[in-house]
Amino acid sequence: VGPDRHHQETPLVKIGLIGGTGIEGKGLALRLAAAGHSVFIGSRSQSKASARAEQFNSMLERPTIQAMTNMELLRETRIAFLTVPADQAVEVISSLRSGLAPGQILVDVTVPVKFQEGSPRHGGVDMLSNAERLSASLPPGVDLLCAFKTVPAHLLARLDRRLDCDVFICGDASEAKEQLMAIVRTIPSLRPVDAGPLLMSRSLEHMTVLAIWLNRRYRSKEARYRIVGI
Ligand SMILES: NC(=O)c1ccc[n+]([C@@H]2O[C@H](COP(=O)([O-])OP(=O)(O)OC[C@H]3O[C@@H](n4cnc5c(N)ncnc54)[C@H](OP(=O)(O)O)[C@@H]3O)[C@@H](O)[C@H]2O)c1
Repeated sequence: VGPDRHHQETPLVKIGLIGGTGIEGKGLALRLAAAGHSVFIGSRSQSKASARAEQFNSMLERPTIQAMTNMELLRETRIAFLTVPADQAVEVISSLRSGLAPGQILVDVTVPVKFQEGSPRHGGVDMLSNAERLSASLPPGVDLLCAFKTVPAHLLARLDRRLDCDVFICGDASEAKEQLMAIVRTIPSLRPVDAGPLLMSRSLEHMTVLAIWLNRRYRSKEARYRIVGI
């Protein structure tokens, strides 16, 4: 069963990317916009967001992606992905706290990775996942999900390449999770997989560390996951 069996055309939604000016933001922006969603690139700087949106739109050959500051983006969208460096995630969300309202969905893609003697390790604090640390910084009523943590950003950004892998989604808010699974289903060659409660973010972040290790061992840049048997 190939992932495209899970592909669906609808629904189309407004999606924001906090710190969407990096490679992860680029990959998500291009895939989501190509699937027809309204994508908003966020940045600390309006001019940086505008320059990136212009670049992405010229790659898509249509002016579909919009640019704004991270705070403005939270007013425009109900679903926002957090695509900033993992070690900045808590600080960034704390600084945007006043823009987060009940009913909003925050999708964490961050993975703290550090290198020790050349080997990748999980760089989290007190064995916690970055997502668990973030959940403590969110105002009540904001639903936190994790997704795309194990998908290589540079492949996401290559619209000419099929991904043929799973996107693991975890979180404690079941309705929000269903909405995100529906969004992922609109992207060809990806299959959303319900990976359970937010606690599973620990496992997902460690899977990313393993993928980095496998890339080094097998001289690849493309290791990613596709689960068989489900
Ligand atoms: N690379 C992968 O394959 C991959 C896969 C899965 C998940 N991820 C995760 O994706 C996330 C983003 O990765 P990336 O390589 O795109 O990151 P990045 O390029 O280092 O940073 C992305 C953006 O974050 C913003 N930013 C940086 N420092 C900030 C700060 N102190 N405060 C507020 N905003 C700040 C910047 O946007 P502005 O300057 O425009 O504000 C920057 O362009 C990481 O957490 C990573 O773990 C990566």
